[in-house]
Amino acid sequence: MTTFAIDALVNFSRTFDNSMYAGQLAKDAIVDRFREETGARPSVDTSDPDIQINIHVNKNVITVSLDSSGIPLHKRGYRMEQSKAPLNENLAAGILLIAGYTGDRALIDPMCGSGTIPIEAAMIALNMAPSLYREKFAFMNWNNYDPDLFDTVIAEAKSAVKRSLEFPILGSDKDKYVIEKAKNNAKRLHLDNLIEFEKMRFDNQFPPVKDSGMLITNPPYGERLDVSAIDTLYSMIGDTLKQNFEGYDAFIFSGNLEAVKFVGLKPSMKRKMFNGPIECRLLRYEMYGGSKKSKK
Ligand SMILES: C[S@@+](CC[C@H](N)C(=O)[O-])C[C@H]1O[C@@H](n2cnc3c(N)ncnc32)[C@H](O)[C@@H]1O
Repeated sequence: MTTFAIDALVNFSRTFDNSMYAGQLAKDAIVDRFREETGARPSVDTSDPDIQINIHVNKNVITVSLDSSGIPLHKRGYRMEQSKAPLNENLAAGILLIAGYTGDRALIDPMCGSGTIPIEAAMIALNMAPSLYREKFAFMNWNNYDPDLFDTVIAEAKSAVKRSLEFPILGSDKDKYVIEKAKNNAKRLHLDNLIEFEKMRFDNQFPPVKDSGMLITNPPYGERLDVSAIDTLYSMIGDTLKQNFEGYDAFIFSGNLEAVKFVGLKPSMKRKMFNGPIECRLLRYEMYGGSKKSKK
């Protein structure tokens, strides 16, 4: 028996006081209709329904839609192991695209945690469709789902994936346990042989870069650190960029708007973005002319 669930959201309605009431009413209507037509009553399963129906009420307009994805699309299926504060996969991909990353330059994330930025970068560079290895979509439970057509589409998308990277991608972190997680996550997309992951602290001992490239990173925002420690961390990031990253285009994504001032470099771009509810900035530091150009 096919199960279903209703997800209702009500805004500015005079008819419905709350979303739950709208959901209940829609559920009853569906159950009644099936009982009339077939004599059988479909069951509700809110945890893992076969069919998910969304009801959106805005003033007197009601939109009823079928959810074709199920688990949200940003969950691409590779990140089974997480660091303490991972970025959403789609946010990491958005940061890379706003930064202008296309795979035509080397990329380093020296505070990579569970590896989201390097993995999303590799997917962009290799032309890999975001949910290529995801096994389940809600539309697979629909009556008109055509598995052969789906297999053909997936096979086409797989054949469009490049086999190797033109420029290296490196993820490093001071924590050896998160580096293991990043490696395992990359393995799920068969990217473990392409992305380099290393346990390495990001400070002035970090090996200086030889050619040009991009650095994109998401340092801790400091919830678990005291203020002086987080200021020291961000000022160390600025010093390391100055000393070891000449020729690089560096991007820092942070939700600590005070701490980023301690980087001590003048950003050539500041972009407001949100990480869930946290207001963040994506800051660009062009290290092309060495320390002189970017210094305050
Ligand atoms: C906000 S998390 C990064 C999360 C990552 N973007 C992801 O999606 O999983 C920040 C990371 O910075 C690392 N970190 C903090 N200080 C560091 C340092 N000095 N050198 C290298 N890594 C550091 C932490 O171990 C942590 O994994």
